[in-house]
Amino acid sequence: MNKKIYTALLLAPLLFTACNKQPVTTEALTQEVVTTNATTEIKEAIPQVVKKMATEINGVRFIDKPIVEEEGLVHIDGFIGSIKPTLEDATKSDKTHMTAMGVCSTMAMEMTNSYNAQLSNVKIRRTALKYRNEKNKPDATDISVMQTLKERADFKPVVIDMNDHYRVYKPLPAKIDCLVCHGDVSQIPPKVMEGIKRDYPKDLATGYSQGEFKGAIIAEILK
Ligand code: HEC
Repeated sequence: MNKKIYTALLLAPLLFTACNKQPVTTEALTQEVVTTNATTEIKEAIPQVVKKMATEINGVRFIDKPIVEEEGLVHIDGFIGSIKPTLEDATKSDKTHMTAMGVCSTMAMEMTNSYNAQLSNVKIRRTALKYRNEKNKPDATDISVMQTLKERADFKPVVIDMNDHYRVYKPLPAKIDCLVCHGDVSQIPPKVMEGIKRDYPKDLATGYSQGEFKGAIIAEILK
């Protein structure tokens, strides 16, 4: 029984990977239909779609830069892809010495650090409004961006301008597979709950429902 749950926990980032294979989109962040001074008929017939270059929401500058967005998504997807083989190796070579939730945490952090060590101008991290690992705690900008993403609930990536760097946010939906560790506490298996309480006494990351905004993977790209 324990072994089964541990295996499930070890495989968590794989689920995470599987769940995040959303197609890359370079659609504009905001689109606005504007009308002309023409007659009503013409207004209705030829609505003009204008892409805004930048939108400020709660002091955060959302920008329309498909090249930056694409670069960020390449790194985010590369990061997701790099977790898989390493985790398979770790699962094979050490089935007993790693404690499940601890492994999730250590592995996720190690993978993040090693991915980031390969790059000089890009940093990848994960965050959530209700976070589990203190090391993934969002800053004020992350909070503001995630509140906007949560309201939109369209799970499209966004790019923001931070003066010396850009941030690309890839929003993550809570999939059914995530709920075993992030769902309603009454639905989380007792052994998993034990692990969460032991390793993350201040955990905030439960109570999610399927389809809800769960958090984001962020690529920070130096200008
Ligand atoms: C087997 C348990 C498990 C499953 C399943 C799981 N997670 Fe997590 N998740 C964790 C643990 C443990 C952490 C904290 C350690 C870390 O940094 O990865 C975490 C952290 C996160 C974080 C980083 C922010 C934070 O809370 O620290 C995000 C984002 C996240 N999970 C999203 C997801 C999504 C989306 C899914 C489903 C695709 C998912 N998780 C499935 C256990 C799980």
